[in-house]
Amino acid sequence: MTSGQGPRRALITGISGQDGSYLAEFLLERGYQVFGLLRRSSSPRTERIEHILDRLELLSGDLLDQGSLIRALDEAQPHEVYNLAAQSFVPTSWTEPVFTAEATALGVMRLLEALRHVCPDARFYQASTSEMFGSAPAPQHEGTPFHPRSPYGVAKVFAHWATVNYRESYGTYAVSGILFNHESPRRGPEFVTRKVSQAVARISLGKQKGLKLGNLQARRDWGHARDFVRAMWAMLQLDTPKDFVIATGQTHTVGELCRIAFEVAGLDWRDHVTSDSALLRPAEVDHLVGDAKHAQNQLGWKPEITFAQLVREMVENDLRLESK
Ligand code: NAP
Ligand code: GDD
Repeated sequence: MTSGQGPRRALITGISGQDGSYLAEFLLERGYQVFGLLRRSSSPRTERIEHILDRLELLSGDLLDQGSLIRALDEAQPHEVYNLAAQSFVPTSWTEPVFTAEATALGVMRLLEALRHVCPDARFYQASTSEMFGSAPAPQHEGTPFHPRSPYGVAKVFAHWATVNYRESYGTYAVSGILFNHESPRRGPEFVTRKVSQAVARISLGKQKGLKLGNLQARRDWGHARDFVRAMWAMLQLDTPKDFVIATGQTHTVGELCRIAFEVAGLDWRDHVTSDSALLRPAEVDHLVGDAKHAQNQLGWKPEITFAQLVREMVENDLRLESK
């Protein structure tokens, strides 16, 4: 895709994460020049983007550091900014609530403020989340009131309203994608789908005995990250900025996830999984299922990968990795 003076430029924060890696691939396929914000760490965190590294322009920066955001925007001069960076693991938000708020809430305000000064015409995507709905009754849609249940959810509500406020205050093309859970073989190992797929692989290869999980009754609307990044891009291509719920509309318990995942390896999950009260959360989000009809009607978006296909892909990937 070109803008008259060369390719369109996109800046992705959180490019080293699950979604960042799929979005970078998606934008490269569309001819974008892709910049990524990468924070300094003691060892490289580019595992998920290793295969496209030579096509990316990585800029050093951190959501905690205002100057680094200004410099990154100035260097990239992006047409589109995708803010995917966050402290994204819900349990860590109880053990590190202030850090979570710094990165996941205030970090977004820092980035919006930098964008307003450096490149006010750039279009801005904020990675909002179904965790903002928390205990609100299912199915959740764009009009459902938020009731977050974790410091992470609280921080994301702040970031969500900051995005809406910059749109209303300054006319910024700033939108929030309220995405329900989405997974992939690149999912971090601490999240439940990957914890289960890795355990299935290791148990079936005799490398692990049993799997301890927390709440087996919680229900999530799980989709595939590859499907969900298409919606992020589509949200920045409209004439008028608007927020959307992105979800599959199907919900499953953690127990059902286990049944399907263990079946891929010919195992019965009830022989291997136990619930450990130490892994329960101080406050749980019991039931998430999204109504994405506006995305379907106005973005032409719908998911293509089913839950069973997602789980199979994750288990088969971990079987391959664990067999090496
Ligand atoms: P992820 O795999 O945890 O990736 C998070 C990314 O944020 C990583 O690249 C991480 O960098 C970066 N990051 C963290 N703190 C940062 C900071 N202070 N400055 C700069 N970068 C920082 O998350 P994901 O699953 O791809 O999710 C992407 C976004 O969507 C997140 O904002 C998440 O909260 C949101 N979201 C996710 C889901 C989902 O189901 N996946 C659903 C709704 C919303 P390092 O590699 O250096 O740690
Ligand atoms: N992580 C984890 N580990 N979760 C477990 C476990 C376990 O051992 N046992 C049960 N669960 C339950 C959790 O209590 C929760 O109800 C559900 O599995 C999903 O947990 P996670 O996979 O950790 O994801 P999440 O729903 O808390 O958060 C993810 O999705 C959000 C969107 O709704 C993250 O990606 C967030 O960043 C994202 O915003």
